[in-house]
Amino acid sequence: MGRRGRGNFALSPTAQRRVIYILFFLKIERKMFSKKSVISPLSSLWVQSLRILLVLSLYSLIEGNTEIERAHDLMNTYPLIDGHNDLALQLRILHRNRLSQIDLHNLSKVATDISRLQAGHVQAQMFAVYVMCGAQQKDAVRLTLEQIDLVRRMCTEYKEFELVTSAQELKNSAKEQKIACVISIEGGHSIDSSLPTLRMFYLLGVRSMSLTHTCNTPWAESSSKLYNVFQRRNTSLTHFGKAVVDEMNRLGMIVDLSHTSWDTASAVLNHTKAPVIFSHSSSYSVCNHSRNVPDWLLHKLKKNRGLIMVNLHSQFIACKHEAIISQVADHFDHIKSVIGTESIGIGGDFDGASIFPEGLKDVSNYPALIEELMERNWTDNQLADVLRRNFLRVFEEVEAVRDLLRSNYPSELQIPSEEVQNPCRLDLRYPYPRQVPRGQSVSPTEIKSQGFLIRASVFCNLVILLINCVFILV
Ligand SMILES: *[C@@H]1O[C@H](CO)[C@@H](O)[C@H](O)[C@H]1NC(C)=O
Ligand SMILES: *[C@@H]1O[C@H](CO)[C@@H](O)[C@H](O)[C@H]1NC(C)=O
Ligand SMILES: *[C@@H]1O[C@H](CO)[C@@H](O)[C@H](O)[C@H]1NC(C)=O
Ligand SMILES: *[C@@H]1O[C@H](CO)[C@@H](O)[C@H](O)[C@H]1NC(C)=O
Ligand SMILES: *[C@@H]1O[C@H](CO)[C@@H](O)[C@H](O)[C@H]1NC(C)=O
Repeated sequence: MGRRGRGNFALSPTAQRRVIYILFFLKIERKMFSKKSVISPLSSLWVQSLRILLVLSLYSLIEGNTEIERAHDLMNTYPLIDGHNDLALQLRILHRNRLSQIDLHNLSKVATDISRLQAGHVQAQMFAVYVMCGAQQKDAVRLTLEQIDLVRRMCTEYKEFELVTSAQELKNSAKEQKIACVISIEGGHSIDSSLPTLRMFYLLGVRSMSLTHTCNTPWAESSSKLYNVFQRRNTSLTHFGKAVVDEMNRLGMIVDLSHTSWDTASAVLNHTKAPVIFSHSSSYSVCNHSRNVPDWLLHKLKKNRGLIMVNLHSQFIACKHEAIISQVADHFDHIKSVIGTESIGIGGDFDGASIFPEGLKDVSNYPALIEELMERNWTDNQLADVLRRNFLRVFEEVEAVRDLLRSNYPSELQIPSEEVQNPCRLDLRYPYPRQVPRGQSVSPTEIKSQGFLIRASVFCNLVILLINCVFILV
């Protein structure tokens, strides 16, 4: 079923009742005038009040008591916190991150801009700082830093935005009518198997990370088999992978399981101390795409007090290119029937995914989804949970776990070098320069070039350290 052919001008049952009242009043009024009696001051008063009633009824009709108006009203009170948006990726592809050349209020080539975020009642957006899996083992860390720089600039140079790093800041930003930006890393390849790198990302404001994108990392498995940089070894979450989860728990960074394999998700749910999220995944029972979440995992997620933020991409909704809003609502209804409404959110995936259902084409369309759920008898209370309260609870619980763990030291665990096998990783240790296998002579130019590499690397590290210091001081 579609939207049952109802446009925005169709009338809700309340509005239909009002039309009947108005017709009734009109009839009485006509009757009174048809008597052609001399209108006494008293009856004139009567007519006046009838007219006022009439105007009031008409007014409330025009104001709209339609379901879409109810959706807007509810979203005014409980504006959306959305789990996933790839605007930053599009800004890199389309504009090479040159913010000065565009106006974020109004961007025609993408599905996200400030005007439409406001129209869609999006009060907080998790912005992905995603870099392609092709950068794994190469410059993923640099590219991620550049995307963080972009989101930080977006969210500080525009007064409508505010960069937030805690649940409290998120709530405050709502009071100030700002759109809160939460930075989230998409894909563990961004940390290049390094816990210190994870910690530095936290310092730059990152508050969530999905453990994989479409590539396995050396320590966690992806739901996709698109890349095989690291083959699956049937160790869904390695010893180092568990350390990544531990460190995220300790820092207060939300673990995101969208894109991971079910095994990895299950292993994380076994291991984590804090609630986790699927920032943009839908229900596997409704559409059997490997990016979606099966019911048995939903049960584990509920036990974890975590959250599934439903993805709107047509391929994940209907398992094909064409989809309609009611099919999106089917995912909500199904998940609700399995684990209730306290573990559901919304993660649109606009500007990341390519095809969206009819009527849900950009970030301004969220009210249409809420309208559909209202028509399916979701209560205001349940919808308020889905729109924002569930996410705020998870964020707060993640912070509470961080507070519990505050006496723990940063982990110094390093991934075993045989698990990363990357010629780009420089191993700096005594003796200096790198030890050469016995029996092999080293030419003076080789030593010179190695020395140069080490000096260059030390120099780069110093520059990065300096930049971090500036960040912390500023
Ligand atoms: C956005 O820009 C387009 C053309 O660039 C213009 O037609 C449209 O009116 C603008 N919308 C807003 C809300 O400024
Ligand atoms: C992982 O398990 C699958 C089936 O369970 C098997 O086909 C595959 O060969 C295994 N891979 C490795 C690297 O052991
Ligand atoms: C998670 O724990 C359950 C038992 O609590 C176990 O059966 C299952 O194999 C574990 N899953 C993973 C992937 O470690
Ligand atoms: C998904 O479902 C369709 C039909 O409902 C079926 O043809 C297909 O084989 C299923 N795919 C998987 C991976 O189960
Ligand atoms: C919603 O509730 C009304 C009245 O309680 C009922 O008639 C209707 O069938 C319900 N609709 C759905 C989609 O459950």
